[in-house]
Amino acid sequence: MSENRFYITTPIYYPSDKLHIGHAYTTTVADALARWHKFTGKDVYFLTGSDEHGQKIQRIAKEKNVTPKEYVDDIVATFTNLWQRLNIEYDDFVRTTDRRHYLAVQEVFRRIYEKGDIYKSTYQGWYCTPCESFWVETKLEDGNCPDCDRKVELVEEESYFFKLSKYADRLLKHIEDHPEFIQPESRRKEMINFIKSGLDDLCVSRTTFDWGIPVPIDDKHVIYVWFDALTNYLTGVGFPNNQEMLDKWWPADIHLVGKEIMRFHTIIWPIILFALDQPLPTTVFGHGWLLSDSDKMSKSKGNVVDPHALIDEFGVDPIRYFLLREISFGQDGNFNRRALIERTNADLANDLGNLLNRTLAMLNKYFDGVIPSPSGSESIDNQLIQLAGDTVTKLSAQINGLAVNEGLATVWQLVSRANKYIDECAPWVLAKEEATKGRLGTVMYNLFETQRIVTLLIKSFLPETGERIWQQLGISDSIATQTLKHTQWGGLQPGTITQKGDPIFPRIEIDTEQVSKIEPVKQTSEPKPKTNINENVIGIEDFSRVKLVVGKIIEAEKMQDADKLLKLQVDVGSGTRQIVAGIAKHYNPADLPGKNILIVANLKPAKLRGELSEGMLLAASTKDGKLELVSVSDKITPGSLVK
Ligand code: MSP
Repeated sequence: MSENRFYITTPIYYPSDKLHIGHAYTTTVADALARWHKFTGKDVYFLTGSDEHGQKIQRIAKEKNVTPKEYVDDIVATFTNLWQRLNIEYDDFVRTTDRRHYLAVQEVFRRIYEKGDIYKSTYQGWYCTPCESFWVETKLEDGNCPDCDRKVELVEEESYFFKLSKYADRLLKHIEDHPEFIQPESRRKEMINFIKSGLDDLCVSRTTFDWGIPVPIDDKHVIYVWFDALTNYLTGVGFPNNQEMLDKWWPADIHLVGKEIMRFHTIIWPIILFALDQPLPTTVFGHGWLLSDSDKMSKSKGNVVDPHALIDEFGVDPIRYFLLREISFGQDGNFNRRALIERTNADLANDLGNLLNRTLAMLNKYFDGVIPSPSGSESIDNQLIQLAGDTVTKLSAQINGLAVNEGLATVWQLVSRANKYIDECAPWVLAKEEATKGRLGTVMYNLFETQRIVTLLIKSFLPETGERIWQQLGISDSIATQTLKHTQWGGLQPGTITQKGDPIFPRIEIDTEQVSKIEPVKQTSEPKPKTNINENVIGIEDFSRVKLVVGKIIEAEKMQDADKLLKLQVDVGSGTRQIVAGIAKHYNPADLPGKNILIVANLKPAKLRGELSEGMLLAASTKDGKLELVSVSDKITPGSLVK
């Protein structure tokens, strides 16, 4: 294994439903780490994927009256679309239905069987289908799955078993000798206790359904979905046929996983690797959960947060920043809209955005927007320069220690220092006298050099913001070519012509609905209308003639020879309607499926460019003329009447 390469993975997600913000959390952290290590000059491989087999998926597909493959194909397309929208730069995506994965899993099974570590017997015990995990009676809690508290099913079937128990001592020794293997420390202790309480051999095949990879020596059986899924980490780096790739990337540096699936990754997976004579990954990091208003997100509670709606509303980087900065990595953290808005306003709009705006405005005024040469330095300058250097060192150590949120806090201390430096140096005073023009040049140079360094330090976390600030700084080398070594003080060339653009993060006003939740609005008398609404007033009976309903977009496609029109299929509760809408210049069709919108349902059908349109979407223009669909909370089901 070379020091100069870095292999990171996310869990592969179940396509049992669309992904929510909790799933986006793991993948955003993995993306930021992958980008950071690339930035430090390493050769990086970032793997993600989808876990498509198993009883749960087979059941859902059956309920929906489609084949499991048809079902997963549709959902997996929404995964890759989400990753694209979140700017996730993965190197490979393993679908467990890929042929290469099928071959890899069968090969793993065959090798372990031939070694004598897999044997046939009968399984009798409990199974949790949502978690796809086996439980012995004594581990159940109140008769339910101890992980998810849902009902378990009694299973009795002929199965192949994997000798986990044979390797328990070796695993304990590995964990004890390698404190970095299971992180954070609290989870390490938990896993040690679990192993010490005794490991039973693991059932690794099923016969009561067939949506899986067949056991190579006995095709009545399909391989247990976790045995199948864990192997993706090898499939993605060429196992079993591409030895060169495998030698380069295996073992992984980090498997990032949620806390509830640590057991699979730190007990079953290492033992599979022991049996295969493969080295173990360096670290399995178990992060906490993202809670929705302090509660675990779940569809049944109706508190699942849809990342698409958030991206539509706030843009990508505020979401990435919130996930990376707000939640202490390893702990559970709370997601709520107000906290997201406050974080964005405080750190991105005020601290970072204003620093750029203020300094660009001053540079334009005093130096026609051109970076001046610094001349001499005072102790206040040296402090800033020192802090910039220390920030690079501290951030590097924090990211290596997986303290992502602390790392961002470190960078923002430098941003705050730069804002304070403006107030302390008062460029507007220096600009008054010709004699202090040289000093003014030094101050402005230092402010822009600090921002150049900050931009490089944040680009792995906020790639879009990095690009946008870089453009305004006017530096000709592409930001993509910049690495950690470019964060040395002094890299900014005097004479660089900056380019003032739009504020990178306009302040978000908290909407009235939110405010009213926090500070109830008192009304003492009849509210007076602020605007003249007497013109064109209509009565309630006129309004009630318009039937407004909530619809969910199912499909969207461009129309031939009509560059403004999109053809949409919209679920309106009672069925699907086709609507032709003039939004092609404002939306990419791939981004529309899943959106809850408002439609006028009783509009007379019309034909547009030969296509039937049975309704009209509601939309409004933003200040810069972009058309935005009026969106509706996901909690409202299609067909609901707006009243
Ligand atoms: N398919 C398995 C993983 C196999 S890896 C070889 C699985 N899939 S999952 O879709 O249920 O969950 C995938 C990951 O998403 C897990 O790491 C889980 O912890 C994470 N999260 C699901 N909900 C989450 C939150 N609310 N918050 C943070 N992470 C969450 O398990």
